[in-house]
Amino acid sequence: MSYSYFTRIYAHRGGGTLAPENTVQALQLAHHMGFAGVEFDVMLTADDEPVLMHDAEFGRTVFGAGQMNETRWADLQRKNAGAWFKDPRYAGARVPHLDHALSFCSARNMHMNVEIKPAPGRDARTGELAATLCARYFPQDSNRASIDLPLLSSFSAEALAAAALAAPHLPRARLWRELPPDWAAQLAVAGCVAAHVRHDHLDEARCAAVKQAGYGLLAYTVNDPRRARDLMAWGVDALCTDRLDLIGPRFR
Ligand code: G3P
Ligand code: MG
Repeated sequence: MSYSYFTRIYAHRGGGTLAPENTVQALQLAHHMGFAGVEFDVMLTADDEPVLMHDAEFGRTVFGAGQMNETRWADLQRKNAGAWFKDPRYAGARVPHLDHALSFCSARNMHMNVEIKPAPGRDARTGELAATLCARYFPQDSNRASIDLPLLSSFSAEALAAAALAAPHLPRARLWRELPPDWAAQLAVAGCVAAHVRHDHLDEARCAAVKQAGYGLLAYTVNDPRRARDLMAWGVDALCTDRLDLIGPRFR
């Protein structure tokens, strides 16, 4: 049985390799393929609007020069976030507001792993505003099961602390590339329910230690089904994958 804060498989950045990342089209694809969980990244615009975005600097998924810290929401909306993917079906994709993603996923009962991804110098504000907007869709309600709440995660302890102040009832997870020696203390101090760790830094002993300490464990980004099975055998609760075609929603 999976940990109560997770569904088992998360489509990374919305649609993995099958749709332009962090777009509504990616979320639509994950839903269409039957995924019960999606991960996406949230960053602030210059005027404090939380949007789905991975990179603080443009040039990869949004063409041209520029930075999120200098770009207002009204200007970002005019930018294209799909053309880089070179599939005519997605050529017109835009950078969505977090509000749009919350509305889309909550209406379809898709579990969200909302990764708070601050642009430089924006850690606390990003955590605060992302959590506040999530809480508008998911207000405190003791009758609601933990799996029905979005799980907020971040590499930034500062962002998670701000999220905890803004929406203490929403579960939080700490992201690490590699578990630090004091991972248990850091999870406890931050009031996190889970650790999200890069899969190639996990082994059977580390997985067992996290699980024995009573925390949830998500491994990212797992694209090989054999590796996925090993991780699950070691007790990993959930996986984030780019290969929606290989590690589908009913993967065991
Ligand atoms: O949340 C898991 C994973 O998305 C973290 O890495 O860089 O893909 O956001 P990244
Ligand atoms: Mg992410």
